[in-house]
Amino acid sequence: MSDAPVAPPATFVIFGALGDLTRRLLAPALVNLAQAGLLVDDMTLLGVSHHDSDDEHLRAALDEFVKDDADWQRLRSNIRYLKGDFADSAMFQRLSSQLTGNAVFYLATAPGFFGSIVDQLGEGGLLNETDGFRRVVIEKPFGTDLASAQALNHRILARAAERQIYRIDHFLGKETVQNIMITRFGNALLEAVWNSHYIDHVQITAAETVTVGSRGKFYDATGALRDMVPNHLFQLLALIGMEPPNSFEAEAIRTEKAKIIAAIRPPKPEHAVRGRYEAGTIDGKLVGAYSQTPQVDPASKTETYVALKLAIETWRWSGVPFYLRTGKALTARNTEIVVQFRDVPLTLFRDCEVECVPPNRLVLQIQPDEGISLGLVAKKPGPVVETVPISIDFRYSDRFEIGHQTGYETLLYDVLTGDQTLFQRADQIEGGWRAVQPILDAWSKDGAPESYPAGSNGPNSAEDLLTSDSRQWNKLG
Ligand code: BG6
Repeated sequence: MSDAPVAPPATFVIFGALGDLTRRLLAPALVNLAQAGLLVDDMTLLGVSHHDSDDEHLRAALDEFVKDDADWQRLRSNIRYLKGDFADSAMFQRLSSQLTGNAVFYLATAPGFFGSIVDQLGEGGLLNETDGFRRVVIEKPFGTDLASAQALNHRILARAAERQIYRIDHFLGKETVQNIMITRFGNALLEAVWNSHYIDHVQITAAETVTVGSRGKFYDATGALRDMVPNHLFQLLALIGMEPPNSFEAEAIRTEKAKIIAAIRPPKPEHAVRGRYEAGTIDGKLVGAYSQTPQVDPASKTETYVALKLAIETWRWSGVPFYLRTGKALTARNTEIVVQFRDVPLTLFRDCEVECVPPNRLVLQIQPDEGISLGLVAKKPGPVVETVPISIDFRYSDRFEIGHQTGYETLLYDVLTGDQTLFQRADQIEGGWRAVQPILDAWSKDGAPESYPAGSNGPNSAEDLLTSDSRQWNKLG
């Protein structure tokens, strides 16, 4: 049981109720919240979709990914289904007649429906907060470039206030991501050296071993840059780079994050590299080339890997490069942030190799093996002065039982309790797209991704991005 207060009663409406997201993540997350005692007993889940279905069929579809216990049975009995077309105003009238009081509208649909569903909700009066709150949760991708993200923001903000809109970035639901601010601002030791005087550079990595698999249609039109960078990786960058907010209030935090994202200078073309996997071996299994993926156009130039060198134009980060990389079909799954400090300036160690006094590194391991490590240098015991790298490590699993969480629990609880801290405001989203737009434009005109074998570290040009600065990526696996 959690110490947090029970969320207020609300009808939880999910558009796209028979989709994967609802079955694998949303329903299990709601059950976990119920188990933690954070949902009212008569919470209603109303699933909307255009498929022929009914209450019992939807309940059965959701059974597969949840643990069958009393909490699920209680929530299950309060699940209802509404069939309808997302563009049909009569369906929204039927929906309206079933709602009183608080309601959350979760758009777990293809992105093409986001704008029209919000239009219909607005026109049907479902977003009026006369007898309770009305909140809209929007999944990613939020736009496909700067212009489309601006247009979508404009469209939904014509129907609802910003305080009613919850733009999801599921990375912010991860405990280790939420811990970044606490690590920074709860430890004077770190914040004192968190600037260009002491930090040499930052590396942000989100490496995956998974391939594009069954997502060929979506991915071929998207690519690694759009899929991961302006949203997930920039959110990590913002948490590392932001100034201390005046409070832990949502707006104070969101404002600082928006400011740092706005300060990202769009990279020069030579500071953005892309790759695409060819056939290879991952964990002993043969993997086919990206171009062989079902529903992928073999002639497309879609990248499955991207690495960027970014400058952040603020006083704190002047001259400190942020290197970002993400890709699929790599040698290891590893999402981490490495903060590398500067070399010690003393000449005491002049006679030994560079490796004998490696610079301090703080590694925030987001997943897997969630934890924090600080690399230091110590003296090796013995009569001669010899140094040895050591590390101070904290692993979440040694200390806490996080349990089987989906990563959506906190996000859904925050929607119900009205806390927008972990959601992206319109200016953050647009700032992210603004920073990558020149690269999207350049890549759409010419060039092609460099090949890398599945199961490798990615393309050689990503290594060159750092070696040409006399730096090196942290090892992936
Ligand atoms: C999603 C991307 O947003 O994030 C996927 O669309 C990616 O391509 C996923 O695999 C990574 O998230 P996680 O939580 O598995 O690291």
